[in-house]
Amino acid sequence: MTPLTIALSKGRILDETLPLLAAAGLVPDEDLSTSRKLIVATNRPNISLVVLRATDVPTYVQYGAADVGVAGKDVLLEHGGAGLYQPLDLGIGRCRLMVATRLGYDWTASVQRGGRIRVATKYVRIAREHFAAKSMHVDLIKLYGSMELAPLLGLADAIVDLVSTGNTLKANDLVAVEDIMPITARLIVNPGALKLKRDSVKPLLDALAAVANIASAAA
Ligand code: PRP
Repeated sequence: MTPLTIALSKGRILDETLPLLAAAGLVPDEDLSTSRKLIVATNRPNISLVVLRATDVPTYVQYGAADVGVAGKDVLLEHGGAGLYQPLDLGIGRCRLMVATRLGYDWTASVQRGGRIRVATKYVRIAREHFAAKSMHVDLIKLYGSMELAPLLGLADAIVDLVSTGNTLKANDLVAVEDIMPITARLIVNPGALKLKRDSVKPLLDALAAVANIASAAA
């Protein structure tokens, strides 16, 4: 079998990815949460795993440095998806991309007034498209994390961020005011690998499609 490298996204998605891989018969040789190794072998001699910052996963797969990856739809939309085949919604990492403000901030009135609103986010591309589709003029401020802090310190009027349980918004007296889209993690494949490593890629895709279907039917 041709060697394959799978790129996984660090963080919350990883906790849901590993059981899915295990159900598809793929188990890392080391505990990924504690290992300092960057390339980890698995029980399948031809398959190795790399765990990356989520935003780097599409880049590794696009350039073929990794053959297959697991990435959130948020990350894929922000990346643009060029050079990536996206055959499968894995149904994991479910959350929503939302606009949120401080509790008590009158978002509707601000929008109706039509003045410029400042929005902080790491999802600049998605936010730009969302507000442009609503013909809203917003000034976007790029951040790399802890977006919830921006309205609290007056850096921005609103944020665009992922909301899962809603606990982070609640803990910081923020409230969701617009729902942009639902998000799940997708399997991404380098198109060249799909052709040239089909003997290894195809069985992996089939196995993951089967377990992802079972998991989403049970959800
Ligand atoms: C995400 C997101 C929110 C939080 C929402 O951050 O940016 O901060 O989760 O989850 P909740 O609705 O369940 O509270 P994450 O912890 O993934 O880290 P990040 O700040 O690096 O994006």
